[in-house]
Amino acid sequence: MMFELTEEQKMIRDAAREFAQTELKPGVIDRDENQTFPAAQVKKLGELGFLGMMVDPKYHGGGMDAVSYVLVMEELSKIDASASVVVSVNNSLVCYGLQKFGTEEQKEKYLKPLASGKVIGAFCLSEPEAGSDASSQRTTAIDKGDHYLLNGTKNWITNGNSASVYLVMAQTHPELGVKGVNAFIIDRDTPGFNIGPKENKMGIRGSDTHSLHFADVKVPVENRIGEDGFGFKFAMKTLEGGRIGIAAQALGIASGAYELALKYAKERTAFGRPIADLQAISFKLADMATEIEAARLLCFKAAWLKDQGLPYGEASSMAKLKASEVAMNVTVEAVQIHGGYGYVKEYHVERLMRDAKITQIYEGTSEIQRLVIAREILK
Ligand code: CAA
Ligand code: FAD
Repeated sequence: MMFELTEEQKMIRDAAREFAQTELKPGVIDRDENQTFPAAQVKKLGELGFLGMMVDPKYHGGGMDAVSYVLVMEELSKIDASASVVVSVNNSLVCYGLQKFGTEEQKEKYLKPLASGKVIGAFCLSEPEAGSDASSQRTTAIDKGDHYLLNGTKNWITNGNSASVYLVMAQTHPELGVKGVNAFIIDRDTPGFNIGPKENKMGIRGSDTHSLHFADVKVPVENRIGEDGFGFKFAMKTLEGGRIGIAAQALGIASGAYELALKYAKERTAFGRPIADLQAISFKLADMATEIEAARLLCFKAAWLKDQGLPYGEASSMAKLKASEVAMNVTVEAVQIHGGYGYVKEYHVERLMRDAKITQIYEGTSEIQRLVIAREILK
């Protein structure tokens, strides 16, 4: 068992760290305040190859491993989780799904521009009445022979107004339940496809979250992913990898808050000495460091299993469950260590605390991760 990163992995991590400091940190407070999508930063992330990291170079991707992906997600999320969620969705939900299950034509037309970051994508499973209960899709896709006709609404879609390509799940054969669901690739400019207003959120406020509306949207049959009825399995298989991305995002939010708290505790004095010398504070820091390391190892384990071609669904749910709970707990403690300064925006930790919460909700809530893990261990 090796705990050493390769030289290449270290270089990739350092490049992401540098990018986060120089490109993401300036303006991150304003983008959060004004709900500004980090468009210029996302463009540069694409140019650096971070939007299609694990895609085969023949489809214009970076050909990197999942461990490197965890490293990049951690570094970016230490500074700006609104930017890192774009990286997570584009890499592990959109590019992965197309590379693994798409046809050659779909890869040529859609994967290449997505992997090179020329455009970004969105993954559209959730609906107003189908979130955790993703099986009960209400959006319909009627089979018309050479095309499908889509009607319905998707909710909470990340990159909702910034994407050019949307992977959309919809029900074609209601009588077959989940076996009747299909997944489709939809171009942004397709007639009948409309984007709702941006959600005003607690955290990841720069991220672009919208509802999407489909009214008689004509989707050519060649834009269906996989066989008829493969859509739910497509979504579930794809989410297994997505959860590694969000686990690593949570890890980054936690380690970003921890690093700030550690620095602050050494600098801030009370009662004539640095607060880090107080056992109440140093024990908090010790617990934070230990929990973060536990979360990091789970993220690496899930990524390593994926890289080895071994089953990784249970491991990715464990990583997401643990890392998101660590993110929440660590960011709350980081605010506490900062005292009153932690409660104002300039010190960053209040934003990290707000951003942490979403990692317990999206790509399957903590309760759903427990359900997935319980089903695996009891089977
Ligand atoms: N791989 C392959 N197949 C799978 C699978 C997996 N990981 N998980 C389930 N399936 C298959 C099952 O085998 C079953 O097929 P068969 O009948 O042929 O065996 C079928 O799918 C139905 O599975 P279940 O009976 O387990 O379905 P369920 O209704 O009990 O629900 C669930 C399962 C795990 C709760 C699922 O609905 C789920 O994951 N819900 C959470 C949804 C979610 O994570 N949404 C995230 C949206 S994307 C997002 O949030 C992005 C972002 O924020 C940035
Ligand atoms: P519900 O499913 O209604 O859950 C409500 C509560 O009940 C939760 O605590 C839940 O854990 C609990 N619960 C439900 N079922 C069970 C059960 N069986 N056992 C125990 N507890 C249960 N979706 C996409 O498809 N694409 C995206 O890009 C995307 N981005 C998102 C971005 C943001 C900012 C947000 C807020 C959401 C996003 N989502 C996206 C949707 C997200 O995946 C869902 O919000 C999430 O899956 C939960 O669904 P819900 O909101 O309908 O909550």
